[in-house]
Amino acid sequence: MTRDGRGPRKVGKRQDGRQARPAAADPARRAAYDVLHEVGSSDAYANLTMRLVFADRRLTTRDAGFATELVMGVLRHRGTLDAVLAAAVDRPLAKLDPRVLDVLRLGAYQLLFLGTAPHAAVGSSVDLAGEVCGPGPKGLVNAVLRTVARRDLADHLAQVTMDLTPAEAMAVRTSHPAWIVSSLRDALGGDDEALAALLARNNDVPTVTLAARPGRINRDDLLALAPDGAESGAWSPYAVRLRHGRPGDLAPVRDHRAGVQDEGSQLMALLLADAPLTGVDRTWLDLCAGPGGKAALLASLAHERDAALLAVEPRAARARLVAQALAGARATAVVQADGRAGPWQPDTFDRVLVDAPCTGLGVLRRRPEARWRRTPADVAALTTLQRALLHAATDAVRPGGLVAYVTCSPHIAETDLVVDDVLASRSDLVEVDARAGLPTAATAAAGGGPRVRLWPHLHDTDGMFAALLRKR
Ligand SMILES: C[S@@+](CC[C@H](N)C(=O)[O-])C[C@H]1O[C@@H](n2cnc3c(N)ncnc32)[C@H](O)[C@@H]1O
Repeated sequence: MTRDGRGPRKVGKRQDGRQARPAAADPARRAAYDVLHEVGSSDAYANLTMRLVFADRRLTTRDAGFATELVMGVLRHRGTLDAVLAAAVDRPLAKLDPRVLDVLRLGAYQLLFLGTAPHAAVGSSVDLAGEVCGPGPKGLVNAVLRTVARRDLADHLAQVTMDLTPAEAMAVRTSHPAWIVSSLRDALGGDDEALAALLARNNDVPTVTLAARPGRINRDDLLALAPDGAESGAWSPYAVRLRHGRPGDLAPVRDHRAGVQDEGSQLMALLLADAPLTGVDRTWLDLCAGPGGKAALLASLAHERDAALLAVEPRAARARLVAQALAGARATAVVQADGRAGPWQPDTFDRVLVDAPCTGLGVLRRRPEARWRRTPADVAALTTLQRALLHAATDAVRPGGLVAYVTCSPHIAETDLVVDDVLASRSDLVEVDARAGLPTAATAAAGGGPRVRLWPHLHDTDGMFAALLRKR
């Protein structure tokens, strides 16, 4: 038995002297490989792909847990793993068959981050290589992983960062692309201590948080149903943090009285819903609603105040997810439309949320694949769309009404620059303090205002940005 209890099944001579058939890779490692390959070769989300692949393979709970650890670990630490592998392979990693590279990453992750015994990590990787690529690369996988196994992570890091600048070394050590490190440093005002804390936090496994949807279930009742160890969130009056257990096992989640939602994301909905507003307060718009997390919380809050919510999403599949998230909510409608040209009259809505499409640099804990997919070129395209959506929201809100501009990225170009530009180009907008609608504990923690910034390393939430604007 190996240290992780999963003995590698090796090719070997049978007692009758004939060559045995190559042993099948173990189901957890094979499933993890298949997910990584799919995520690497398409735009698939890792969490959705895992769900599909694990169900298809009928993995046991134990195997699914191990496979999840492998997938998320490899995606989080890919930058570090690749730097170590690059030093052990005799050609550029880009020249390797991508299937072989995924097998090597899985093996190196087990060796350097899980402490798997070398014979288990190497043997199972050689089996896996044989299964997914045929016998050709088995020798290479064996040789490279044996080289990796000779040192521990600290030794490897010391070696591969020796000739790098401090910024490059930080990128390798924390497994972030250099452009993301530099964008996050700018967003943190050049504070290197905060940067180190944020980068480290981005590699942690985030807590699963639920939102008890007001009017449908209260937080104490949700807490009473949650598995042992669950506790109230620190910032949102609706948040329940789970220590273990699967949200889908809870009846309130299954029947939409509660939903999985990061506490920072809950605060973004609250910040719009609870901000003081003069005049009527009947019609709310969620301009970028898919997949519907904030829309579901907004719908409950709107219903408590006798307001109706219109949720907009251009992509059909995502619009369906919004409709599912709003199942059972009253006075809501979902429209599949481009938020820049929606089917409504100007000056219509009392409150508008623009939860803009963004690089997602604030949610790298939850979506580790995003850091390898995004490029600096994405920022330019997104900021054009973000400006257009904020203009459209301003046109849609009535005079005196409120627009919350929110991103799950702290990138300066997607946050301050968008808001500053739109404010400068319109005389009908004024910025107000976005903290006004936050619960007291969160107001104190959210900085000096008027804009709100939440950080994984400070608030243990997703990294969120919000500005609140009132139409004159
Ligand atoms: C950050 S996500 C919104 C998350 C959502 N509010 C939630 O809490 O679940 C941004 C969404 O904007 C959508 N989007 C992209 N282009 C858009 C457009 N032109 N108009 C409206 N929404 C758009 C994306 O499809 C994506 O679903």
